[in-house]
Amino acid sequence: MEKVIINGGKTLSGTVDIGGAKNAAVAIIPATLLTRGVCRLENLPDIKDVNIMLGTLKQLGAKVKYINPHTYEIDTTPEVDTEVPDELAKHLRASYYFLGALLGREKCASVAMPGGCDFGVRPIDQHIKGFELLGAKVGFRENAMVEVKAESLLGNQIYLDVVSVGATVNLILAAVLAPGLTTIEQAAKEPHIVDLANFLNLMGAKITGAGTDVIKIHGVKQLKGCTYSIIPDQIEAGTYMVAAAAAGGEVIIRNVIPKHLESITAKLLECGIEVDDDFDDEIHIKSDVRPKRCNVKTLPHPGFPTDMQPQIAVLLSVADGTSIISEGVWDNRFRYVEQLARLGASINVEGKLAVIEGVEHLKGAPIKADDLRAGAAMFIAGLVATGTTEIRGVEHVDRGYEKIVEKLAALGADIKREIVPDPAGSLNEVG
Ligand code: EPU
Repeated sequence: MEKVIINGGKTLSGTVDIGGAKNAAVAIIPATLLTRGVCRLENLPDIKDVNIMLGTLKQLGAKVKYINPHTYEIDTTPEVDTEVPDELAKHLRASYYFLGALLGREKCASVAMPGGCDFGVRPIDQHIKGFELLGAKVGFRENAMVEVKAESLLGNQIYLDVVSVGATVNLILAAVLAPGLTTIEQAAKEPHIVDLANFLNLMGAKITGAGTDVIKIHGVKQLKGCTYSIIPDQIEAGTYMVAAAAAGGEVIIRNVIPKHLESITAKLLECGIEVDDDFDDEIHIKSDVRPKRCNVKTLPHPGFPTDMQPQIAVLLSVADGTSIISEGVWDNRFRYVEQLARLGASINVEGKLAVIEGVEHLKGAPIKADDLRAGAAMFIAGLVATGTTEIRGVEHVDRGYEKIVEKLAALGADIKREIVPDPAGSLNEVG
């Protein structure tokens, strides 16, 4: 187990490069099963979640060839198993994308019920409803295994009762090879949905409307291999934007798609931070005054991302005035507030609302990362707080942020990683 130690109060300056999008990568890796051929995936982030997805693919029987830390060649020509073992599935919520991908390829799959960051109830009823509408039977076996099976699949109209990233991905995966037309209504519009559709279309799929709330999929007979580069990670970029805004300084965030960051840019501008996004693939942040208060409501894309909610809460903790955060996606995403309170933040949570009274300073203390994005927020808090902040549970952060300690250090943060012997604190669940 490791901890990260930050001596806070230093401004940030320089350039940080953003890697490939985790949530696109974890959808695209299982999608390679929809061809019997070779796909070369580039710009994969070198993070735990991606390594687990690649490991699962390998365990199922695909050939996974390492080219460099961000590029792999995946050969899905061999026969593959259709059961994802529990020890792999439990680490990663996205393991349920193997249900859609294997259903599409082999007409059957079983995957243990996914775990995930603990944000309250995380049902998969919309995935199941969609699989059934495509002609599959869904059952539950012992050990919480979900099993999907179909004699054959046939396109259908699917209306999602909630906007779900996971259900949209899984249903696209299941439908691309199903004869006829599948329509997904109230689909999620996140950039990673568009990226998955672009990847599949390059393989020969016929998907239109990705990025809108109606996605149409004309089933094709087969897909071919291709070479594809994953889009930049919206949330990694947003995290560095907020880190620069909160710690102060001047930072260039490079290899980004500014359009994907508009909701974050808008909130930083409201807080009085200088943001220049008039570039093809960069965002410049300048922050030299105390941030102003603002209200934030998280919503599915293009709303403010729930995965940026803990990070912006840190900025608002030291803003001038009272801010309200309203969580519009998950039931319970304020667990990290307890940790911020240890640093002196003043936050009251009422159900899905958090009222933040900005304080002038946070003060370093030992804290822990409860999950991936909460962990990223603790890093930002450590940069802002005066004195020393020790963060445990950093393995959660390593799931989604490549070389975060090195990247922050290169921007001038006083930050280091240390190994601590603590057998009780092992990684358990992921989002
Ligand atoms: N929901 C249902 N029924 C379903 C599916 C979802 O009621 O069948 C509800 C959920 O309970 C939630 C809402 O719909 O209230 C949205 O859930 P969604 O399915 O969109 O979330 P997800 O696919 O499980 C992905 C990301 C999360 C991110 C959410 C929301 C991946 C691998 N995970 O989760 O990312 O918070 O979308 O944008 O793409 C992270 O990266 O840290 C992370 C947790």
